Amino acid sequence: MSETELFPPPKAFSKRAHIKSRKEYEAIYRQSVKNPSKFWAEKAKQLHWFKKWKRVFRYTKKPFVKWFEGGKINVSYNCLDRHLSTARKNKAALIWEGEPGDSKTYTYQELHLEVCRFANVLKKHRIKKGDRVCIYLPMIPQLAIAMLACTRIGAIHSVVFGGFSANSLRNRIQDSRAKMLITSDGSFRKGKIIPLKKMADEALAECPSVKTVIVCRRTGQKIPMKRKRDRWWDEEIKAEDISDVCKPAEMDAEDPLFILYTSGTTGKPKGILHTTGGYLVYVYQTFKWIFDIQEEDTHWCTADIGWVTGHSYIVYGPLANGATSLMFEGVPNYPKPDRFWEIVEKYKVTLFYTAPTAIRSIKQEGNQWPKRHDLSSLRLLGSVGEPINPEAWLWYHKMIGNRKCPIVDTWWQTETGGVLITPLPGAIPTKPGSATLPFPGIVPDVLDEKGRRAKINEGGYLVIKKPWPAMARTVWGNPKRFKEIYFGKFPGVYLTGDNAKIDKDGYFWVTGRTDDVIKISGHRFGTAEVESALTAHPAVAEAAAVPIPHPIKGQGLYVFVTLDKGIKQTPHLKKALFRQVAKEIWGIPPPWRILRWLHYCSSRGSFKIAVSVDIKDSGENLKIEPLPA
Ligand code: WT7
Repeated sequence: MSETELFPPPKAFSKRAHIKSRKEYEAIYRQSVKNPSKFWAEKAKQLHWFKKWKRVFRYTKKPFVKWFEGGKINVSYNCLDRHLSTARKNKAALIWEGEPGDSKTYTYQELHLEVCRFANVLKKHRIKKGDRVCIYLPMIPQLAIAMLACTRIGAIHSVVFGGFSANSLRNRIQDSRAKMLITSDGSFRKGKIIPLKKMADEALAECPSVKTVIVCRRTGQKIPMKRKRDRWWDEEIKAEDISDVCKPAEMDAEDPLFILYTSGTTGKPKGILHTTGGYLVYVYQTFKWIFDIQEEDTHWCTADIGWVTGHSYIVYGPLANGATSLMFEGVPNYPKPDRFWEIVEKYKVTLFYTAPTAIRSIKQEGNQWPKRHDLSSLRLLGSVGEPINPEAWLWYHKMIGNRKCPIVDTWWQTETGGVLITPLPGAIPTKPGSATLPFPGIVPDVLDEKGRRAKINEGGYLVIKKPWPAMARTVWGNPKRFKEIYFGKFPGVYLTGDNAKIDKDGYFWVTGRTDDVIKISGHRFGTAEVESALTAHPAVAEAAAVPIPHPIKGQGLYVFVTLDKGIKQTPHLKKALFRQVAKEIWGIPPPWRILRWLHYCSSRGSFKIAVSVDIKDSGENLKIEPLPA
């Protein structure tokens, strides 16, 4: 199969799609870059504004852009209230499926009520506009409710993925100086209970900024509650003095909306800041065109809301469009490898959005699993988070999409807020492994070391040359770092950190990172984080982590450790080091398990060890060269 085989959009799909042909896309694209103010103003008008903006965008203090300045808007109003006066009032906004199989559906009206009441709980605990609220929850409805409640009153949420460790949580709370933490007694993972509240307590021991902790009941085990500080969500929300009504705050378009921490090349994860108006307009419009949303669709994005994918395409994009969004607590292969397909069949999912790593791991379990289910409701498939190999793409196309669903391979980042490079499903012929063409309004390019445009098919730095509404505004508390990291290499041009090439048809192929960011199972890490986790251990002098290709997870880790002089390697120390990484970065269980010490060699009085990711669950054998003595 040649890499350039084209898969045209299915005719039946194009016929009723928002954008119906490549010609139509090209006309829109041309207009969008020629006159971005006009283009984005038209899109922004679809939303509700308390007050219209004065200027669409201003980019005089590069790289600090402002969008829709002077405009007043509220995110929760646009995601909820706006639909209540329409036929969507009793439409499902959120369908939630829990790991053990419990489920719950919220209509727009019901979700609105929960959000208003919880916003009043926030107010009662003195959360005000601009305050940071940290959310450390499993994938339960309260997570989306808490986010929307923050936006209702103008508090800035900072969602921390429930798989992160107490140390990771502590670092993020300390950096954002959050006033409140929202967590749960525990969370489910593959039938086991993760003690979330216990980890939160551990983190909070060193977080004096947090005055209140709201705890959701999920797993039901007994947990200590600290007097005055800790409150149960269910008791707070049903309290007599909590009203059903909460007026949405009129926010400036450029007021901060949320912080989301993400890994970079060096140091601790940085807090990416997104603001209100531009972000909402962008996720609204990208969701509409890329997923080609129609009124009767059921959209399922399998990501965790702890990552940007969930922020933009489980919560804000779908709800701003009045769509039905499915939220799932579990994992693809528990209790059986057909968990995804069981859910697709149960809810007649029409739009399905997942990561290549999930596709590969399900694929290896065999075709019998998807074959057990009726997947005929599906009409569009999506991929995100890492490059998708053509083999996985073709399997997805045939086995899941029954050759009739277009696949949108969407390229974007935490920093970009929404998808930047993607096919529009009714318009753009796809090539397996290529994210194809820029979304209207986006001007990407591939540059060589000197900043010249790379030749056709020549790899180079993927950059974005013009600002777009959802671009990150800064690194929380560190604008200097923001400028250096993203605009330091080619002044005035946004550096993505990815490597890419453009083929003769103008299609983009994103091949991986140019920096020390790694993607394990689509989850983003810096090798530097793993290294500093290891060197934090008293026995370790130096550590170096490098990515290795992994057939299922995309990438794995290979770590070199030099022990301090006189320290002996022992099985006990080995275990301690594995625990160290888990403790510093992930709670239990981490996305990778560092299980084996492959090799030691003494070098000038110290020891070098290498550890590899566990590859047992991939069922394949990975050959690792012994280290030179
Ligand atoms: C990095 C960003 C985008 C939301 C989830 C990830 C890689 C993402 C693709 C894709 C090739 C991709 C890039 C990017 N990436 N999507 N379709 N094809 N690579 O957000 O955690 O901030 O990671 O993910 O390397 O820089 P993130």
